[in-house]
Amino acid sequence: MRRAGALAAGPAALVLVLALAGCGAIPGSVTPVDETEFTNELAVPPLAPSRTVDGTRVFELTAQEGTTEFRPGVRTETWGFNGSYLGPTLRAERGERVAVEVTNELGEPTSVHWHGMHLPAAMDGGPHQEVEPGATWRPTWEIDQPAASLWYHPHPHGATEKHVYRGLAGMFLLDDDVSRAAALPQEYGVDDVPVIVQDKVFDDDGQLELSDDGSEPGTLGGTVLANGTVGAYHEVTTERVRLRLLNGSTARTYQLGFQDRDLELVATDGGLLDDPVTLEQVRLAPGERAEVVVELEPGETTRLHSFEADLGGVVVPFAMGGNDAFDVLELRAADELTPSPEPAWEPSVHAARDALHEDSAKVTRTFELDDRQINGRRMDMGRIDEVVTEGDTEIWEVRSTVPMPHSFHVHDVQFRILSVDGDAPPPELAGPKDTVYLEPNRTYRLLMRFDDYADPEVPYMFHCHMLLHEDEGMMGQFVVVGPGQEAGTPPDGHGDGHGDGHGDAHSDADSDDADAHAGHH
Ligand code: C2O
Ligand code: CU
Repeated sequence: MRRAGALAAGPAALVLVLALAGCGAIPGSVTPVDETEFTNELAVPPLAPSRTVDGTRVFELTAQEGTTEFRPGVRTETWGFNGSYLGPTLRAERGERVAVEVTNELGEPTSVHWHGMHLPAAMDGGPHQEVEPGATWRPTWEIDQPAASLWYHPHPHGATEKHVYRGLAGMFLLDDDVSRAAALPQEYGVDDVPVIVQDKVFDDDGQLELSDDGSEPGTLGGTVLANGTVGAYHEVTTERVRLRLLNGSTARTYQLGFQDRDLELVATDGGLLDDPVTLEQVRLAPGERAEVVVELEPGETTRLHSFEADLGGVVVPFAMGGNDAFDVLELRAADELTPSPEPAWEPSVHAARDALHEDSAKVTRTFELDDRQINGRRMDMGRIDEVVTEGDTEIWEVRSTVPMPHSFHVHDVQFRILSVDGDAPPPELAGPKDTVYLEPNRTYRLLMRFDDYADPEVPYMFHCHMLLHEDEGMMGQFVVVGPGQEAGTPPDGHGDGHGDGHGDAHSDADSDDADAHAGHH
């Protein structure tokens, strides 16, 4: 089992790494990314077709097996939605009702989670909504949140890392009144381009390898892909280009920017900032997104680069990818560029309703993350960890207590970061977020409101988005209940579950201490 192996191998691997570092065998990185030529045109995921049935926009996604030629002549076995690798971009407008027909043509159960989406828990696509091989699942919900670059990916219990790594992921773009009217590049695939950044290890036969040696962050690959393209370039025809960056990796944190220019950050996970912010770099942990606007001169070439990432107070950062620096995507500007406006936008007509207010927070919960547990417990499908009341605004105080990277994600909501260890968040953390990199031993105070969709039985998840950590149990469940309602029992609690550790000492916590960490103030 991966879990037992990881616990045993983790420290040993660390010691080995430290020993190697000591004898100078490592020039600075144990997880370097190979240099490559940037000669392949960036693949842009197609916009998913949809049909309208009784006022609902209906998409179809089929999880399937296939092969992909990442390098000419080498066929790699991969998984994808409606294709062999990654999936089409879904796109919908605030106020629309959508449905997705998710068919599983894999040989094992999977699920599809709508990361960043506010929707009923039964539609969320987490481990309680697994789709059996051959089956179709049809979630439906109304889009009611600001324009944003969301994404979708599988979330099967204990197997998320494998499913995402093999290629199952795609973007889900939301539009609204602000984004439609914004002075921002918005021609999809031309000057408004999704960039899904992932890293892979290929074995000698060109097949994807997922290391199971328990290396602490998970697999850090030596080959970096943008939308599945190795060494990708994109031809730019406008003065500005908007990149919708998604860290779709299972473990690696990127520090993205350009060596010869700044970027303008316009949106974080859950949508547009109040105003554009000029930055040199933006750090993205697994699951996080950033929309940036880059300016080019006619005829020039520049590259999106991942700098050595500042991982905070992490032990042996070079073993966590912190010393790796590499190019990700080349931008090639045409000799003549169409003018692009200076990025700007007005507030939404929904702004007042969307706003979060710290003074209405009724509940503060604390979450302590260590190696693979949250508040001393591992994921149990049959246990509800937190019970939230519909409509409540809450503060979640989240802290990693170990010097290891973690990326904290909450389903159903977009949160605002009130403070990081008492200080105001930096600009790249000041917008709407659903996932945040946790620098070790710092307390992140997150403000969120749980509108709509009370369901005492079906839980949402909160977890580390480093997918090995998630699969190994660094996840918990919360339900949203109506006022005065009690939590029920999760429907299919296959909580005795996967046999790889649920019978261990940590499974003694039951739903009766579900509220143990909630304190009213
Ligand atoms: Cu993107 Cu619970 O995941
Ligand atoms: Cu983690």
